[in-house]
Amino acid sequence: MYEFHPYFTNDGSTGLYNSACNDIYHSATGALTEAYEKFIYPIDSNNLLAKEKINVLDICYGIGYNTKSFLKFLYENIALLNNYATVHTDNAKNKTDYYGKIYTDNIFSKISITAVDSDKILLFLSPFIKTGVRHYKNEKLNFNYPNIKKYLYAAKPKHPPKIYDLINFLLFEKIAQNEPEFLGNDELASILNEETYKPYLNSQIKGLHQFYLNSCDTFNTEPHKRLNLHNIYYKYLSKHYKNTLKSTKLEDINFIPKIGDAREIIKVDKNTYDLIFLDAFTPSKCPCLWSLEFFQELYNHLDEDGMLLTYSMSAPVRNAMLQSGFTIGNNIHEGKCIGTISVKNPTLIKHPLSEFEFGLLKTKSGIVYRDKNLTDQNESIIERRNAEVKNSNLISSSKYKKKFKIL
Ligand SMILES: C[S@@+](CC[C@H](N)C(=O)[O-])C[C@H]1O[C@@H](n2cnc3c(N)ncnc32)[C@H](O)[C@@H]1O
Repeated sequence: MYEFHPYFTNDGSTGLYNSACNDIYHSATGALTEAYEKFIYPIDSNNLLAKEKINVLDICYGIGYNTKSFLKFLYENIALLNNYATVHTDNAKNKTDYYGKIYTDNIFSKISITAVDSDKILLFLSPFIKTGVRHYKNEKLNFNYPNIKKYLYAAKPKHPPKIYDLINFLLFEKIAQNEPEFLGNDELASILNEETYKPYLNSQIKGLHQFYLNSCDTFNTEPHKRLNLHNIYYKYLSKHYKNTLKSTKLEDINFIPKIGDAREIIKVDKNTYDLIFLDAFTPSKCPCLWSLEFFQELYNHLDEDGMLLTYSMSAPVRNAMLQSGFTIGNNIHEGKCIGTISVKNPTLIKHPLSEFEFGLLKTKSGIVYRDKNLTDQNESIIERRNAEVKNSNLISSSKYKKKFKIL
C-alpha cells in the first residue's frame, strides 16, 4: 500500500511527510515559497531568457514545486517582457528587452523541462496537488505528522492561485501524453478516491482524469481520436484559462517526465542543461545524489553559462562540487544564506564563499561522499564516508572553527 502523507505548509501549499525515512519533503515555511526562494530567485532572467534554447533538469521532481515555480517565473517574466515590447517596439517577431537582447515571440516552444523522480506515484500525482488553498500565516504548525491531521479537515478552497491551476492542467496533459498508463494506475486511483486526501487535490483535474479514464482505450490507441479528446479537454477549461493559454503559449513547453534513479538516468543522458535543480533528501540520508561522482556527471551536463541550484550548504556537498570543477557561491535571500549555486562561468556568482567557508571544506567535515560506479546503496556510501572520516588526518571542523576565531 502506497504511503501518502500530505499536510499544509505555512503558505497554504501542500507538503509531504515520508514515513519510511521520517523526513519531510518540504519546509514548514511553505513548499512553494521554498521552491521560489531556493530555485527561482537566483536565476539571472535576462541571461536565461535571451538564450536560443532553455533546457531545465529538475532532479527529484516529487510533486513538482520547482518546475511549477519555474513555469510561474516564466509566465511572469514573459508577460512583463511582452508588455514592455508591445509598448516600446513595433517589431512583432523579434522583440527587444530592456538590455537590448533579442528574444523570439514564442519563447515557450524553446523550453524543455526534464523531470526526474524515482517515485512514479508522486510524479503522476503532481498535477492533482492544490498549490494553495488558504493562508496559514501566523498559525503555528507542528510538523509531527499526527498533530497536523487536524488541518486535513480545516481547509476550505477560497482563492486558489490561478496561474498554478493553469500549470497543473498543463502538467496533467503533458504527463498523460508521455505516460498514458498513468491514467489507469491503481495506486493513483486509490489516493484520488480517498476522502481524507480531498482537501489537497484539485477537483477540476480529478474531473479531467475521470474523463480521460472513461476514454482510455481511444486515448491510448488512435491518434485522431486523441486529437478529438484534446479538443474536448479544452472545453473543460474556463474562458479565463483558455485565453491565458492562448496568450502565453505556455502549453508549447516540452515537458519530459523520467521515472527512475537519477543516477541511472543521468548516466545515459546526452543533453546539457541551462538550469539544474537538485532537490534530493538531505545528504546524510540520501548521499547517493550528493556524491563526488554524481556531481562530476552534473558538471558534464551543465551548459557553460548554466546554473546548478540546491538548498544544501553542507561541507561534503560543497567540496564535491568544487572537486568536480564547479565554481560555487551562496544563495543569499533576505540577508540569509539558504543554499548553494554552482556554475562553470564564475561571473555568474554574486556571493562567493568567504575564506572561513572555504576553509571549512578542507576539514574532516568536508570529506565527500563517494559512489564510484553510481550504483551503491545509501547505507554503504555513508559507511564508507564514516570510515574515511575516522581515518583522516584532517583537522576537525570544531577545532578549525576555534582556530579561525582566534586568528
Ligand atoms: C525532498 S523530495 C523533493 C521534493 C520536490 N522537489 C517537490 O517539489 O515536491 C526528494 C525526492 O527525491 C526522490 N528520490 C529519492 N531518491 C531518488 C533517486 N535515487 N533518484 C531520483 N529521485 C529520488 C523522492 O522520491 C522525492 O520525491
